[in-house]
Amino acid sequence: MQFIHLANEGVKSLSPYQAGKPIEELERELGISHIIKLASNENPFGFPESAKKAIVQHLDELTRYPDANGFTLKKVISEKFGVAMNQITLGNGSNDLLELFAHTFVSGKDEIIYSQYAFIVYPLVTQAINAVAREIPAKNWGHDLEGFLKAINDNTKLIYLANPNNPTGNFLTHQEIADFLAKVPPQVLVVLDEAYTEFTAENERVDAFALAKIYPNLIISRSLSKAYGLAGLRIGYAVSHPDVADLLNRVRQPFNCNALALTAAVAVMQDDEFVKKVAENNRLEMARYEAFCYAQGLEFIPSKGNFITIDFKRPAGAIYEALLREGVIVRPIAGYGMPNHLRISIGLPHENDRFFTALLKVLAK
Ligand SMILES: Cc1ncc(COP(=O)(O)O)c(C=O)c1O
Repeated sequence: MQFIHLANEGVKSLSPYQAGKPIEELERELGISHIIKLASNENPFGFPESAKKAIVQHLDELTRYPDANGFTLKKVISEKFGVAMNQITLGNGSNDLLELFAHTFVSGKDEIIYSQYAFIVYPLVTQAINAVAREIPAKNWGHDLEGFLKAINDNTKLIYLANPNNPTGNFLTHQEIADFLAKVPPQVLVVLDEAYTEFTAENERVDAFALAKIYPNLIISRSLSKAYGLAGLRIGYAVSHPDVADLLNRVRQPFNCNALALTAAVAVMQDDEFVKKVAENNRLEMARYEAFCYAQGLEFIPSKGNFITIDFKRPAGAIYEALLREGVIVRPIAGYGMPNHLRISIGLPHENDRFFTALLKVLAK
């Protein structure tokens, strides 16, 4: 391959991120319609009306650059969570932020710690910047925080924790994270990636903002792609110590968040009814998935996110392909080292019914 010798050592062996299969692609390939996609943990209720209305009102302003500081959105986030505006950094999706943390703080021989089976962007980012990866073997598919603590050394710069984790749905409690932070040296930054936090029951959620008041090395990362339904617009936010936010904002591209995303985010972050409806559907439908799995003798990893990961106890690629032929797109996760599992995003009741019926048909063959 031409130019590969010019790439940094990490990039030379980097594989691109594998996204969920788009509906249009499957339509083209199989010539079928009525496809359902339960593959990318998107919001099954579609684009929120509140965001749609806000966007339409702002269309004429698209000739101008967006507000580089995202003032209005930061104000809404600040008031909603009781954090200062100078603690907030906005991202083009939280992916942008996850990368920004590493770009801002990690270089040379610095080490980044994350868990086996954790969100794949952590190893991708680490490799892309040619940093040293310390992947901690998982415990029951989740984070082994004792293992994390043992791996910390003088070169450790950043720790990624996904809570709930994708693709496993594992969850660390507030107390577990608080105990962990108390033992992490203050010069090591801990990223708490809470892309799915809105799907966790309110009384179980980690109070990350309270922890950030105690631990200035904690960075909270949130997404508007999941419960808020803005995946296609790309917007997320981070809350950190103001000095950390100041450094992040130096590295961030000036207009990394587009005007429509900012506008939609302002609307939907004030649309509590929408998020409540989404979380409630997820709670009820997750219970149906669990009941289905128990009834069919299928092992699954208990999940606090908007997806469930089923262990088929044999390579699941053929099941994935057969489900595609039934018009149901789910997510193979062999790339995570989990070839026997499939991850299914929780959909609307009728979509989940389609999945149950399709899976039974496929398994009966
Ligand atoms: C754990 C986790 N963090 C972050 C993201 C990034 O989401 P986005 O960039 O859409 O905010 C995802 C997306 O799937 C995720 O699963």
